[in-house]
Amino acid sequence: MKKKLIVGNWKLNPATLAEAKSIVLKLNKVRGATSTVVICPPYVYLGLLKSKFALGVQDLFWEEKGAFTGQISAPMLKQFKVKYAIIGHSELRELGESDHEINLKMVAALGGKITPILCVGFGLTADMNEEDILFHLQTQLENGLRGIDPDKVVVAYEPLWAIGSGHPADPEHTERVAMFIKIKYKVSKVLYGGSTNAENAQSFLKKTRIDGLLVGGASLDAEAFSKIISI
Ligand code: 13P
Repeated sequence: MKKKLIVGNWKLNPATLAEAKSIVLKLNKVRGATSTVVICPPYVYLGLLKSKFALGVQDLFWEEKGAFTGQISAPMLKQFKVKYAIIGHSELRELGESDHEINLKMVAALGGKITPILCVGFGLTADMNEEDILFHLQTQLENGLRGIDPDKVVVAYEPLWAIGSGHPADPEHTERVAMFIKIKYKVSKVLYGGSTNAENAQSFLKKTRIDGLLVGGASLDAEAFSKIISI
């Protein structure tokens, strides 16, 4: 089986550096992880965590330097050995991030030799028609991937209703969406994210067209995340 990619999105957690260090310390003890593992902590912890796994970030800015208060650039992140950047997460889209800004960030990440993980997702309820979902995903994908070599990026499908709800999407539905993204946009890696945990991760990872997981809450639980990366 192809090696899966498991990305932990810590979001605005944990509250202290001591907790962050403690999670990493426990994860470092995992022997023989079967997947490629990426941890995406808040920026401020980046240089302070000694992780044996790759580091990622949850966002970045498209300019390299200048008068852009509060922003962080790809070249800055590269100095902290950042290899991946989550771009266009629905929680940032909700705060007003546009498809155009997302595309600029994708270009900036690639320019800085950081692999972007483009998040796409739609639907406030689980019973939404699959055709409608695909229709909305197309807009996000076309705009997000504009001018970009799709082979160099990862796409994460995260249905909005599944994020943090305790109700993951159906793995069969997810695999069909992953196939659609791969065939139509020539993206080589598609992840799933939304309420994944140590119990349900396997049902997604056993699908050959799902290349891995973008894990939120469970990535902060060292025991659960250790199980997921060892599947
Ligand atoms: P949960 O795994 O907490 O549902 O979060 C998913 C997510 O948003 C990862 O980016």
